Amino acid sequence: MGSIETLVLLQLVYISSCMDQLHIVYEWKQLDFQFPSPEARQLALDAKGFIPENNVPMGLEVYEDRLFVTVPRWRSGVPSSLNYINLKDNSTRSPVLVPYPNWAAHSTGLDGKPPEIVSPYRVRADRCGRLWVLDNGKIATLESNTTKYPPSLIIYDLKTDNLLRKYVFPEDQVKQDSGFANIAVEDTDCDKTYAYAGDLGKPAIVVYSWEKNDSWRITHHYFNPDPLACDFSVKGHNFSWTDAIFGLGLSAPNADNFSTLYFHPMASYNEFSVSTEYLSNQTVADDNFDAFKLLGSRGPNAQSSVSFVDRKTGVLFYSLVNLNAVACWRTSNNKYLMKNQGRIYMNEETMVYPTDIKVDYEDNLWILSNRLPISMYGKLDLNEVNFRVFSAPVVHAISHTACDITPRSDILEKFVNKAKNITKDIVAKVKPNSSTTTKPITVLLTLSCLVRFLAT
Ligand SMILES: *[C@@H]1O[C@H](CO)[C@@H](O)[C@H](O)[C@H]1NC(C)=O
Ligand SMILES: *[C@@H]1O[C@H](CO)[C@@H](O)[C@H](O)[C@H]1NC(C)=O
Ligand SMILES: *[C@@H]1O[C@H](CO)[C@@H](O)[C@H](O)[C@H]1NC(C)=O
Ligand SMILES: *[C@@H]1O[C@H](CO)[C@@H](O)[C@H](O)[C@H]1NC(C)=O
Ligand SMILES: *[C@@H]1O[C@H](CO)[C@@H](O)[C@H](O)[C@H]1NC(C)=O
Ligand SMILES: *[C@@H]1O[C@H](CO)[C@@H](O)[C@H](O)[C@H]1NC(C)=O
Ligand SMILES: *[C@@H]1O[C@H](CO)[C@@H](O)[C@H](O)[C@H]1NC(C)=O
Ligand SMILES: *[C@@H]1O[C@H](CO)[C@@H](O)[C@H](O)[C@H]1NC(C)=O
Repeated sequence: MGSIETLVLLQLVYISSCMDQLHIVYEWKQLDFQFPSPEARQLALDAKGFIPENNVPMGLEVYEDRLFVTVPRWRSGVPSSLNYINLKDNSTRSPVLVPYPNWAAHSTGLDGKPPEIVSPYRVRADRCGRLWVLDNGKIATLESNTTKYPPSLIIYDLKTDNLLRKYVFPEDQVKQDSGFANIAVEDTDCDKTYAYAGDLGKPAIVVYSWEKNDSWRITHHYFNPDPLACDFSVKGHNFSWTDAIFGLGLSAPNADNFSTLYFHPMASYNEFSVSTEYLSNQTVADDNFDAFKLLGSRGPNAQSSVSFVDRKTGVLFYSLVNLNAVACWRTSNNKYLMKNQGRIYMNEETMVYPTDIKVDYEDNLWILSNRLPISMYGKLDLNEVNFRVFSAPVVHAISHTACDITPRSDILEKFVNKAKNITKDIVAKVKPNSSTTTKPITVLLTLSCLVRFLAT
């Protein structure tokens, strides 16, 4: 099936009344930061330590009252690469970013010593109250004067904001083309936590054990980009990306306390999985090549960047780069087929490059979109809204999609009731005084929703 048909299918199957239930919580034309004073801000602007148009938000995470936002140092002029917003402050929809844990962690020493946090893309707050910062370590990758520091994991205590650990990846686990942008954290046991860092440049996962304070590098050919899936087209910009393993979604633990890692390269239409049982030791991973599974294909044009599994519902959320959309799949579904994919949100204006997806500990879905391809291959219009944070309770986001977890009998009842109500309404409008007999057209309209639920 061609890409247009895929798109049409997605649009037809998940008809308008059935999705797009997220709302925009924050939006920015450009980012700004909470400098110590207006003078300090002006100084930073004058000295090119702050170049507003070079600041693009990449990653988000929510923990209690804070929403964390990363701003990688792709270009110069990024004053702070990890920040937060206070979710309780509802005074503005375009809040300034507050550096985390403080300004000092983002300052280069007078001796040229790199800042504590160099350039993280995505972070993860675990259920044990720790913030895991995967630091890519590179500065100005999109400019000629790139500086490279070794990538690292920086872990903070979210109660005190104290630095717990900084673990620099050993030299032999970082290759020439390595790029670490995505992290998943397996926190079933707070003392035996594992972090999985995807290497999108030289396909691999670096596994870090909190208990051992040690890491190892796992490779598998399923981590590689598919050479036939490297072409992208977003808002009139056509480009090739060869990014390898990218989306990392961890399921809730099974009875033996192992999770399933759902993963895919960015340049790929396929989804894969592996039990964490085979990642906790490099020898075991190498000896169990078959433990890595191909789940199936999303179909042509359906390359995906980030992904995230909601542990409560078992729903895998993922971005669709070319379609300006976020979609979902129920991991309890034993088939990974195009028709089992649900559409959460699709919009050519507001959802251009969904760059991060998370579910917080209060069961809300959060999505950040940042128009990345436009800022990389064109120019962002600073008079337009460029960055948006969307949110909704997970149950609302998946309701009426193929990922709805409501028991099927309930769904049927809900829809039969709705069908009756719609019929009543329409009949009342058309013929105020007639009896409420069912009219064929309304039955047809509601049937298309019903049929889909019965099919899944
Ligand atoms: C902000 O929140 C406070 C308390 O939570 C509420 O009283 C106020 O109406 C809110 N303001 C807006 C603009 O939503
Ligand atoms: C790096 O190069 C860019 C232009 O490519 C320049 O604007 C910027 O000031 C340079 N940064 C440093 C730290 O030299
Ligand atoms: C799984 O982990 C939990 C939390 O650490 C622990 O209480 C439980 O005993 C573990 N179960 C097994 C089968 O190891
Ligand atoms: C973890 O290991 C690194 C060396 O790889 C070391 O520098 C650091 O001090 C260790 N941290 C802890 C908490 O043991
Ligand atoms: C970009 O690619 C699309 C198909 O993916 C094609 O229709 C379009 O003409 C291309 N645009 C340019 C400027 O090459
Ligand atoms: C990894 O597993 C192998 C085989 O089970 C075992 O011999 C080895 O000691 C393990 N390595 C570590 C670091 O646990
Ligand atoms: C249908 O209408 C009744 C009352 O008229 C209401 O209680 C019920 O929630 C409605 N059902 C749906 C699915 O909208
Ligand atoms: C039915 O129509 C009559 C006038 O034709 C009107 O008086 C009456 O209120 C209507 N009944 C209802 C239930 O709308």
